[in-house]
Amino acid sequence: MLQLLWFLLISPQLVLSPNQEGPFLQQIKHSFDDPDGALSNWNNRYDNPFTGSVYLVDLSNTNIAGPFPTLLCNFQNLFFISLFNNSINSSLPEEISICVNLQHLNLAQNLLVDIPMSFGRFPKLDVLSLVGNLFNGTIPSLLGNISTLKQLKLSYNPFTPNQIPPELGNLTHLKVLSFTQCNLVGQIPDSLGMLQSLLDFGLAINNLHGPIPKSITNLSSVVQIEFFNNSLSGGFSVGISNLKALRRLDASMNDWNGMIPDEFCGLSLEYIVKSPNLYVMRLFQNRLTRELPKELGVNSPLESFDVSKNQFFGNVPTNLCAKGSLQELYLISNLFTRLIPESLCYCSSLIMVGMMGNQLSGEVPPAFWGLPHVYQLALAGNLFSGEISTMIQGASSLYVLLISENRLIENIPDEIGLLENLVEFSASNNQLTRPLPASLMNLTRLTMLNLASNELYGKIPAEIGSLPMLSYLDL
Ligand SMILES: *[C@@H]1O[C@H](CO)[C@@H](O)[C@H](O)[C@H]1NC(C)=O
Ligand SMILES: *[C@@H]1O[C@H](CO)[C@@H](O)[C@H](O)[C@H]1NC(C)=O
Ligand SMILES: *[C@@H]1O[C@H](CO)[C@@H](O)[C@H](O)[C@H]1NC(C)=O
Ligand SMILES: *[C@@H]1O[C@H](CO)[C@@H](O)[C@H](O)[C@H]1NC(C)=O
Ligand SMILES: *[C@@H]1O[C@H](CO)[C@@H](O)[C@H](O)[C@H]1NC(C)=O
Ligand SMILES: *[C@@H]1O[C@H](CO)[C@@H](O)[C@H](O)[C@H]1NC(C)=O
Ligand SMILES: *[C@@H]1O[C@H](CO)[C@@H](O)[C@H](O)[C@H]1NC(C)=O
Ligand SMILES: *[C@@H]1O[C@H](CO)[C@@H](O)[C@H](O)[C@H]1NC(C)=O
Repeated sequence: MLQLLWFLLISPQLVLSPNQEGPFLQQIKHSFDDPDGALSNWNNRYDNPFTGSVYLVDLSNTNIAGPFPTLLCNFQNLFFISLFNNSINSSLPEEISICVNLQHLNLAQNLLVDIPMSFGRFPKLDVLSLVGNLFNGTIPSLLGNISTLKQLKLSYNPFTPNQIPPELGNLTHLKVLSFTQCNLVGQIPDSLGMLQSLLDFGLAINNLHGPIPKSITNLSSVVQIEFFNNSLSGGFSVGISNLKALRRLDASMNDWNGMIPDEFCGLSLEYIVKSPNLYVMRLFQNRLTRELPKELGVNSPLESFDVSKNQFFGNVPTNLCAKGSLQELYLISNLFTRLIPESLCYCSSLIMVGMMGNQLSGEVPPAFWGLPHVYQLALAGNLFSGEISTMIQGASSLYVLLISENRLIENIPDEIGLLENLVEFSASNNQLTRPLPASLMNLTRLTMLNLASNELYGKIPAEIGSLPMLSYLDL
């Protein structure tokens, strides 16, 4: 669909006649392979009398193919180009920088291969997105020369292994830096601490190693830090953190080990405890070992908290849902002990609960079985004792219930038959006794039922064979 827009310019001396700009349109049109005919009505456009000039070219999602048309830069007033999601190929021309008025250049999701040196010379560029191309060189340091940049997005390109150019620290107006999966190696340069305006800081899925530089604590505006899946290590201790705006921290899948120092990623645990904005905290799959402070969540409107696959020990912090917003709680494969805190029974916002593979013990509090929005309740591989509460009937959203390998006793309550959304139910390796409740036959969506290695007795209800979706049954 054609989205070439014409804008009337107020200032007469800038007006170009259609005769001046029209012929370029023809040439540009012919430079593309256009199987869907997206550019077919360009003719009509430029034949119409008008007095304006081309200001903005948006040809996103039009399935056009071919090299970047340098001729576009003959439109003197062009400030916006989006060729998002096409098949623009080859390398970008050096002459692209003659687009001197360009403020917004979105070439994401194409087939481009090189970033020309002339990129350092755009005098007004504000937004540059080259996400999802085939750029295979290195990230040029001269991007640090585009001092007007507010968004620099290079994610998902097969760059040759390369370091983050320290010069990018000069981009003091930058708000968004997205370098996910850019084949980055080496350390995060100190200079990035100078990005005082940065809101969104994305370096996930690279091979960065070493500590996060102290200077990062100077990023007082930063809202989102995505550093997952690197080899970052070490901690550091600086004064109380300055990251007051931080809402989302994902440092999962790195190489942090040992104690989280009291200062971690520029965040003192002390600070996290008090943070008024933090709503996502993900540290899964590191090698962290310590007790979590019980105040965690007292002030933070946590929605997602994931520390799975570490060696955290001690109590599950009691205040994780103090603000009533917690939806995802993942503590899987750690060394947590003792009881599930009673306070979590009032956490009706919970959707996902993963506590498998710890040493939690005692009775699961009755009301915890019945949280109304919990979709997945995974308590397997702990030391839980006591009964499955009849309060489970309140868990009307439950889809997956995994409670194998505990020490649960007595019967599976009849109320289980009311959980009409249940698809997977595994309670093997417990000490459950008594006959199976007939109500199980009401679970018509069940695909997996594993009750092996218990002390159940009585008749196996014949109807079990008629559960329509059941594909795995182990009694
Ligand atoms: C990309 O463009 C094609 C049309 O050429 C469209 O079908 C597809 O949905 C677009 N993809 C995205 C992510 O917008
Ligand atoms: C770029 O795309 C055009 C149009 O489909 C095609 O003719 C040309 O061979 C492609 N060039 C490269 C280097 O792939
Ligand atoms: C850096 O930017 C300035 C001003 O836009 C420009 O004059 C200069 O040529 C650029 N330097 C490089 C190396 O691109
Ligand atoms: C990048 O890809 C292009 C096109 O496939 C190729 O000609 C060039 O040698 C590659 N450059 C590097 C540094 O791999
Ligand atoms: C940009 O940053 C580099 C290294 O951080 C520095 O050496 C250089 O002088 C800076 N350039 C400008 C124009 O500020
Ligand atoms: C982690 O990053 C590596 C590349 O650095 C990639 O191969 C792997 O698929 C990523 N894993 C995840 C879970 O994202
Ligand atoms: C933070 O910024 C201030 C001033 O901008 C500077 O003096 C200080 O050294 C920076 N801190 C770090 C750890 O880089
Ligand atoms: C099965 O469900 C029906 C209707 O939802 C209900 O009337 C019946 O009592 C249930 N059977 C058992 C055994 O729970």
